[in-house]
Amino acid sequence: MSLITRTSVLLSTLAAAALLAGCERPPMDTKQIGYRGTAMEQVDNPRIVAAKQAANVPPAALDPGSPDGPKAKDVLQNVQVLGDLSLAQFTAQMVAITAWVSPEQGCNYCHVAGNFADDSVYTKVVARKMIQMTQNVNANWKQHVANTGVTCYTCHRGNPVPEQTWYQPVAQDLRSNFIGNRNGQNLASPSVGLASLPADPITTYLTQPATIRVGGTTPLPTGHVASIQATEGTYALMVHFSTALGVNCTACHNSRHFGSWDQSPPQRTTAWHGINMVRDLNTGYTLPLGKVLPANRLGPNGDTPLVACATCHQGANKPLYGAAMAATWPGLQTLATTPAAAAAAPASAPQ
Ligand code: HEC
Ligand code: HEC
Ligand code: HEC
Ligand code: HEC
Repeated sequence: MSLITRTSVLLSTLAAAALLAGCERPPMDTKQIGYRGTAMEQVDNPRIVAAKQAANVPPAALDPGSPDGPKAKDVLQNVQVLGDLSLAQFTAQMVAITAWVSPEQGCNYCHVAGNFADDSVYTKVVARKMIQMTQNVNANWKQHVANTGVTCYTCHRGNPVPEQTWYQPVAQDLRSNFIGNRNGQNLASPSVGLASLPADPITTYLTQPATIRVGGTTPLPTGHVASIQATEGTYALMVHFSTALGVNCTACHNSRHFGSWDQSPPQRTTAWHGINMVRDLNTGYTLPLGKVLPANRLGPNGDTPLVACATCHQGANKPLYGAAMAATWPGLQTLATTPAAAAAAPASAPQ
């Protein structure tokens, strides 16, 4: 072999190694999750699964307090959402909230020292709305969260701001430049798995009832035909679903017909309720809270942090791998006061 050939063999080997560096190291686990012959499989990297399992351990169980004794609202001064708890349950709920949201900062993360009734710290105002949001999820969105339910820990995991809130991508991904207007896409964006798909599917689809379905339902196009850009938007959202839950597309679809509900696993119906739930959480809670948050809590474009699928799921098909979070916390079960929320929950399944 001449020197030149040898060098070029070496270079191409190095180039192949560099290209493959983005891939995950085999062997992979493949599990059949659909009927034989439908190629519905879940492919997992066992090393990533082990790390995710370690990161999704539920918190230590805490004492929820005795239901006996006087009610919090009869003893305390300024309780608007947890007033029906007994005083013991109320105190236990405060201790739990502190462990779930601000374990290092303690009670005074939300309270003025010496005056628990004072509402002048913004975090207390946010926390009250968050209590209502959690009650809303557990009471009105059982079609998604079942009896597993959620607590503050599901999203917060011991952090005052959840690690997986959604901010609009940095302006670089959205801007136009001298080559033309990127229209919010056409630049490998981490928010959509480094594809050049539209970079902000959460604002587009999960803060308003935007149409996600793009496939035709008749052999020939009739009436409305979805644009290529709308189709790419749907795929961007689907990339978020898959990464948020740590699953392949086959967890919710038979890829021979993405649109067909008959051929989809039941998880897709759960996901459909999840889409409506997340829209409700953003329009009813996080977006209105944008007015209360200080500037350092807003995103790079001055936008409000949003709830996305990843905020609860954090890479697991069920948050904390299905640990029942809400059952022992009566304060987080029923809605105290949010009139609009009950109307938002749909009764029917998708057609
Ligand atoms: C993450 C924010 C947060 C943390 C941390 C927190 N609280 Fe609270 N606290 C609240 C909210 C919100 C209310 C109002 C609840 C309502 O309106 O029903 C409240 C109300 C109270 C009240 C009622 C005051 C009154 O008279 O109206 C007491 C007492 C209290 N908290 C004690 C504590 C203690 C003790 C701790 C620490 C173990 C603590 N809180 C930690 C958010 C918090
Ligand atoms: C579905 C996910 C979710 C759940 C459940 C949740 N939060 Fe939050 N929380 C968020 C998001 C997202 C933010 C970022 C602020 C925003 O979007 O308004 C936040 C912000 C906060 C903040 C403001 C922190 C800061 O430093 O600015 C407090 C306090 C808070 N949450 C308390 C709670 C409490 C208490 C509970 C349980 C009763 C709770 N949260 C449950 C998603 C959640
Ligand atoms: C967690 C469940 C879930 C995962 C994972 C998922 N999808 Fe979806 N997908 C849905 C739901 C739910 C809808 C329907 C939304 C609606 O009806 O508003 C949908 C709709 C679609 C549509 C539009 C169908 C139509 O009627 O036009 C396509 C295409 C699609 N998904 C492709 C994908 C691809 C590709 C992947 C993998 C990258 C994927 N999906 C992963 C739940 C999922
Ligand atoms: C407020 C927290 C929360 C958010 C946000 C959330 N989920 Fe879930 N999700 C849950 C909980 C809790 C369960 C477990 C329910 C159960 O035990 O059956 C679940 C279960 C699911 C399942 C069933 C998984 C299985 O293997 O059976 C799917 C699919 C799913 N979620 C999709 C989504 C999608 C898609 C989104 C975003 C549109 C989303 N979720 C947002 C809390 C959430």
